[in-house]
Amino acid sequence: MFSEEVIQKVKEQNDIIDVVSDVVRLKHTGRNYIGVCPFHHEKTPSFTVSRDKQIYKCFGCGEAGNVISFVMKTKNVTFPEAVKVLAERIGIDIEENNDKKIERAKFDKMYNINVEAARFFYNNLRKDEKAYSYFKNRGINDSTLKKFGIGFAFDGWHNLRNYLKAKGVKEEELLNLGLVVKSPKGSIYDRFRNRVIFPVFDYNGKVIGFGGRVLDDSKPKYLNSPETPLFRKGIHLYGLNFAIKTNMDRTVIIVEGYMDCISLHQHGITNVVATLGTALTEYQAKLLKRYVDKVIISFDADVAGQNATLRGLEILKKENFDIKVLQVPQGKDPDEYIKANGKEAFLKLVNNALPLIDYRLKKAEDGINFLNKEMIIKYVNNVANILATLQPIEREVYVKQVAQKAGVSEESILETIREINKKTSKNEEKTNINVDFGQKLYLEPAYVKGERTLLKLMLKDKEFLKIITNLINREDFIVESHRTIYDLIVNYHHLPDDERNSKIDTKCAENSECTKEWINIQELQVKLGEYDVERMIHDCIREIKKFKLEESKKEIMSKIRICESKGLVEESMDLAQQLITIQKEISNV
Ligand code: UTP
Ligand code: MN
Repeated sequence: MFSEEVIQKVKEQNDIIDVVSDVVRLKHTGRNYIGVCPFHHEKTPSFTVSRDKQIYKCFGCGEAGNVISFVMKTKNVTFPEAVKVLAERIGIDIEENNDKKIERAKFDKMYNINVEAARFFYNNLRKDEKAYSYFKNRGINDSTLKKFGIGFAFDGWHNLRNYLKAKGVKEEELLNLGLVVKSPKGSIYDRFRNRVIFPVFDYNGKVIGFGGRVLDDSKPKYLNSPETPLFRKGIHLYGLNFAIKTNMDRTVIIVEGYMDCISLHQHGITNVVATLGTALTEYQAKLLKRYVDKVIISFDADVAGQNATLRGLEILKKENFDIKVLQVPQGKDPDEYIKANGKEAFLKLVNNALPLIDYRLKKAEDGINFLNKEMIIKYVNNVANILATLQPIEREVYVKQVAQKAGVSEESILETIREINKKTSKNEEKTNINVDFGQKLYLEPAYVKGERTLLKLMLKDKEFLKIITNLINREDFIVESHRTIYDLIVNYHHLPDDERNSKIDTKCAENSECTKEWINIQELQVKLGEYDVERMIHDCIREIKKFKLEESKKEIMSKIRICESKGLVEESMDLAQQLITIQKEISNV
């Protein structure tokens, strides 16, 4: 991390108005500047930048931040990268301080140990006939084995440990990297035994961890490195280091497995990355956004694969990717398919990948018998939900198509869509917790994000927990599941993080709303350092207060309307007085 001074300097000398103006055409209005928001689609400008406060805020979508976060978001870069960009802009040198040097040396050492381990595994592969022939049988050639550094861990308890110890690596370091495991009795043994090994690289090509596959049908099929300082789940994408060295044509194919990725690369389709069986995270989506705008997602046809697809789509949508869904026929995975049918056949699947809407519409047809009236009604309702999110022109095209399919009039579908949109615009502000994952296509209200952020901070640091619990009680949270999670965090805060999280997992498991929010909170990226924490906490609380006041304001306004329609002058005057008070409070929060 950079020193406070550097960050301060970068913020002070880069006027937010200038930096934003490179991206957004701003107009001076009163004390602020205003323009069309770069973070959501809008026609009337609601993106406001304050020169005094050196911040921006969009009243349309709730985005807010300072000059550094603006660069991070618009250029899709990390905090240190944004600081660098801004430092260059004003021509200052950002020297590494001593702490940073020590930290870097520590990390370099860890990477080096991983490289040694990867070399060891790689050299083992040729020494073990069954491991080497495993890949031969799966059609993987020598140059692919080399490119991906594929190896083998012998069937023994101490092979890697002894090898690395002889090279001077300490036991503690091996544990830290998850290369060995400590038994409850305290003995130390190799994590990976009798498995073929896939080193996992980050986008720079550094070895961050390993995946090990059994050679037969035993379980678990894959064993991966645990969470370590280098191997952090949901941060990297397998194969990205290779993909970005080729001409990706701003398009990437996302698959699930190691072997899918490797196999496609071997067949000359190199714009491929793998999520390694986990749901795509926002962080990964942002990482991809640096390199591509188009995403073709190809997940397994099983239910887990489809759920992963839906979750992934949601995250990708948020980052404004052009999304298509590739379906591999006959329930095969991409590796099996390309092996059986060749590169051209797979490229055909790529060309035939369905745009997101078509994919969802097609899914809606699953299990529908178009001769059955009730089913048609169900189908039309489902489809209307999907179409409700579209822009008018697009909608018209699809409504026509669906009307024909279902044998109903276009007008009746349009009417259903109008009903849905009326309802969502009402619910949208009130609560978003009843909408299924994968269907929530409008932006989250700011208070929801605020509440999540507070809970996230409580998880991150005991000090934050203290500050927050002093400022806000469970009852102050608006979203019911957030109250529950608040209680759980408070109850279990004394446990180590892992234990605490798994306790909360369990407690939330029964309630799908709680689970959903719990996941949302864990996945939330709170970038400290770009923002001072106390200010962040106060911003969150402010959002909650603001929302509550807006709600009471609405209530009073509707009462006023009733009183006025009944000619109750006194009462409506009283209410008007209340309204003024609330308005004052709103402008004060
Ligand atoms: P798959 O079961 O689809 O495996 O899991 P695969 O990649 O097709 O592997 P092969 O072809 O049978 O060798 C997809 C991905 O999910 C992760 C792995 O990253 C795998 O590549 N996974 C799967 C695990 O981490 N652990 C498991 O036990 C299973
Ligand atoms: Mn497979």
